[in-house]
Amino acid sequence: MTDTKTYRIKSFGCQMNVYDGERMGELLGEKGMRAAKDGEDADLVVLNTCHIREKAAEKAYSDVGRLAKNEKKPMVALAGCVAQAEGGEAQRRSEHIDIVVGPQAYHRLPELVEQAAKGARPVDTDMPAISKFDAMPKRRRSGPSAFLTVAEGCDKFCTYCVVPYTRGTEISRPWSDIVDEALALVDGGAKEITLLGQNVSAWSGENEKGQQGGLELLVRRLARIDGLERIRYTTSHPADMDEGLIAAHGEEPKLMPYLHLPVQAGSDRILKAMNRHHTVDSYLKLIERFRAARPDLAISGDFIVGFPGETDAEFEETLQVVRDADYASAYSFKYSPRPGTPAADMDGQVAPQVMDERLQRLQALLSEQSLAFNRSKIGTQMDILIDRVGKREGQMIGKSPWLQSVFVATDADIGDILTVDIADALPNSLHGITSPKEAAA
Ligand code: 5AD
Ligand code: SF4
Repeated sequence: MTDTKTYRIKSFGCQMNVYDGERMGELLGEKGMRAAKDGEDADLVVLNTCHIREKAAEKAYSDVGRLAKNEKKPMVALAGCVAQAEGGEAQRRSEHIDIVVGPQAYHRLPELVEQAAKGARPVDTDMPAISKFDAMPKRRRSGPSAFLTVAEGCDKFCTYCVVPYTRGTEISRPWSDIVDEALALVDGGAKEITLLGQNVSAWSGENEKGQQGGLELLVRRLARIDGLERIRYTTSHPADMDEGLIAAHGEEPKLMPYLHLPVQAGSDRILKAMNRHHTVDSYLKLIERFRAARPDLAISGDFIVGFPGETDAEFEETLQVVRDADYASAYSFKYSPRPGTPAADMDGQVAPQVMDERLQRLQALLSEQSLAFNRSKIGTQMDILIDRVGKREGQMIGKSPWLQSVFVATDADIGDILTVDIADALPNSLHGITSPKEAAA
């Protein structure tokens, strides 16, 4: 195609960006480019950016600045949500950005690279009616754990969130596309598939029999794929979870006992100001129903502290919901005003020191809970999916059903599912030993 031969893709932010990054790599690979090796300067660097909080967005520009100092002077493509939000403005801000490509337009990346090689500075932030997925090559190889985007965009319009603007309106990929991609991933080596969507619980579609359904129907179909051992999905919205999906957690052994279900805050007044479409009570009752279907279910959540107008007492309610829900893991953030979102113009923006203090208290409580959750697994036996090589000689790292990293000394390979006994627990990992049964086998 062009003189550009090697590429490097750096993805920031959510798992959907990781998925998009892989797909961009596949597209460039089809055009004869190859991924730069570790330590090798690439001819093309794609920064697949995140716009969710100010810090994440600023990181994109500091990376561009760093690349500009690189002797090789790589072609720089700004991709992802910052690209979508800023469009051509990004190139006015930095002369080193050669290409701007939004998350719905990256199937055209190879063309844009060709244009840039001829000296143009293309900007493509279209959200075309024809799905980018149709223009993408079939998936071939996969690691043991794969991501599969099933729905994109979001119609929820939480008042703090840029996603409905950067990723656009909610769109579900068609049933057959998803099933075909899952089959290809399993053929290529995947044992676990995580279905992705900004609001994955809003997925809807029609199966090959013309039956209309939601995520439950899809999960039950994928569970019938031989060789696929584990299914997960993320991120869910509490207002979109239905009985069928709850029941599937009790009935489908391949559906892992882990649910990422953000609540964001623990005060009904704040949830209303956030436009969350649920209350604290409806959230806690929902969790109870999931736990009734699958008693060992681990819950994880997202939290924002310091939403405009949040009082000390309202923050205390967030701590209370954490105590009531009991999280296995969680992500918590200081509120970051995002341009164009309603909350950015709300009165009562909270002082940074107050946010710092609240975040520290929240994180202390959440860490306590995740350590307690990890410790509760000591003395139990579990299956782990080996997905990485550990740093120590002979050590491998696997994923537990509850998404914990489990370190184990074993000669098992990446992609194996291994039964281990849990001997110890740390805040972010478990230590396993291969059980005598396994060793004898
Ligand atoms: N400020 C801070 N955190 C945010 N999130 C989304 N928008 C913002 C914002 N403006 C958090 C939410 C969401 C997660 C992906 O990021 O908790 O669930
Ligand atoms: Fe953003 Fe709310 Fe949609 Fe999640 S549900 S992507 S927080 S608007």
